[in-house]
Amino acid sequence: MTFSKSFPDNFLWGGATAANQLEGAHDVDGKGLSASDVFIFDINAPKETWLDQWAGMTHAQVAEAQNPASKKYYPKRKGNDFYHHYEEDIALFAEMGFKCFRMSIAWTRIFPRGDESEPNEAGLAFYDRVFDTLRKHNIEPVVSLSHYEMPLTLVTEYDGWPNRKIVDFYLQFATTVFKRYRHKVKYWMTFNEINCVKHHPYVSVGVIEENHPALEQAKYQGAHHQFVASALATKACHEIIPESKVGCMISYQILYPHTCHPDDIQACEDAQRVSLFFSDVQARGAYPAWTERMFATKGVVLQKERGDDEILRQYPVDFVSFSYYMSSTVSAHPEKLEGVKGNLITGGIRNPYLPESDWGWQIDPKGLRLALNQLYDRYQKPLFVAENGLGAVDVPGSDGIIQDDYRIDYLRLHIEQMQEAIADGVDLFGYTWWGPIDMVSASTSQMSKRYGFIHVDQDDMGNGTLKRTRKKSFSWYKKVIASNGNDLS
Ligand code: BG6
Repeated sequence: MTFSKSFPDNFLWGGATAANQLEGAHDVDGKGLSASDVFIFDINAPKETWLDQWAGMTHAQVAEAQNPASKKYYPKRKGNDFYHHYEEDIALFAEMGFKCFRMSIAWTRIFPRGDESEPNEAGLAFYDRVFDTLRKHNIEPVVSLSHYEMPLTLVTEYDGWPNRKIVDFYLQFATTVFKRYRHKVKYWMTFNEINCVKHHPYVSVGVIEENHPALEQAKYQGAHHQFVASALATKACHEIIPESKVGCMISYQILYPHTCHPDDIQACEDAQRVSLFFSDVQARGAYPAWTERMFATKGVVLQKERGDDEILRQYPVDFVSFSYYMSSTVSAHPEKLEGVKGNLITGGIRNPYLPESDWGWQIDPKGLRLALNQLYDRYQKPLFVAENGLGAVDVPGSDGIIQDDYRIDYLRLHIEQMQEAIADGVDLFGYTWWGPIDMVSASTSQMSKRYGFIHVDQDDMGNGTLKRTRKKSFSWYKKVIASNGNDLS
């Protein structure tokens, strides 16, 4: 008996982005500074330090970034200038045949400080123009409300998400955009990679470590407030846009036990559960039983308001989405083994069976099939692959075109594994490649860590013409979409 590997007819093929990494125009039309607008890139700093700010930001760094006299380069203020190129860029996405486009709304365009009582009309009008352009090309917007870009003021003056007041500010932002775009946007995600707070609390929940010596407490208190905010936003979205679908979004970089030793298996299970409990809360509506023990071990005492558990229970998400880039292995004795390099997301131990990207991320297409099956078994909710992609050093050929066969291979192998998962019975309704056009890297703030099907002429220090050029992968993905995933030749 054969099982169909065909993608559903209305499958949402597309690409994924985030406002802080591509829009630029950080001081245009009333936008305020976001938490990501203070990341610097310094080409002269040792490479090993490029991930340091992503792991944690200091008061001194934030203060310097707020000083107009600062001589540092802040790449996320420039992005790839989508703000002024969106029509051209969306036309290129349409040429590839995109069915959907995942993007975020910069909170700081709508509420520049985050605590205002009235929204910024110029910011709202910008996204009207973007959504109208997408609609003109029959591209469905899939919108993240929060993608590592909370208003900086909510970090510096309110101390981030551990402060319950942020829930109200977020809900004001969410309901404002639900009302404004109720006829234009159906698919929403509440928080990007909500489970990454454990790796980078500054950019996830706005926590500066110096203010929070009890860092674990701050991280999980911030996460609890995001869970409540997500549930209340889901409720509001369903009321304002009855046909809407709201999803959670986690980073799901699958983990394997490094050996079959039971201690490694337990260590792996523990690590994976710490990641998955975030989607457990959002998709099932409750903290799993084992988290009580985890919180006690970490010395975390969650401050919950009366009614919080009921809110989580009543308003779970409609679908589960996730990013998938790589896998790694887990050992009970990691100190004796070679760790993975280049990412803070999984950490873990190198897998000797897998190749790796230019940035040390271990490439594992079969892990995507496993991830899809595991998440579907666990939640029985529709799934959406919100991010998957290859950051690489791209070098143009003599004709000026980037022959990125390595990117095509990566994509092909991952699509094949989605086909397998569909044949396994997984309900998968969309796939958005990260990122369809070159933009600033989230973790290292480099421009030269390129994911796009479209090259942008800009270097790590922001020099270049910003000219957009199709890479070889552009026409390959176009063919894949036109054949609804059947033609992978
Ligand atoms: C995901 C983020 O973790 O990974 C994106 O949601 C990010 O914002 C992507 O860009 C790739 O990571 P990086 O650091 O290579 O840009």
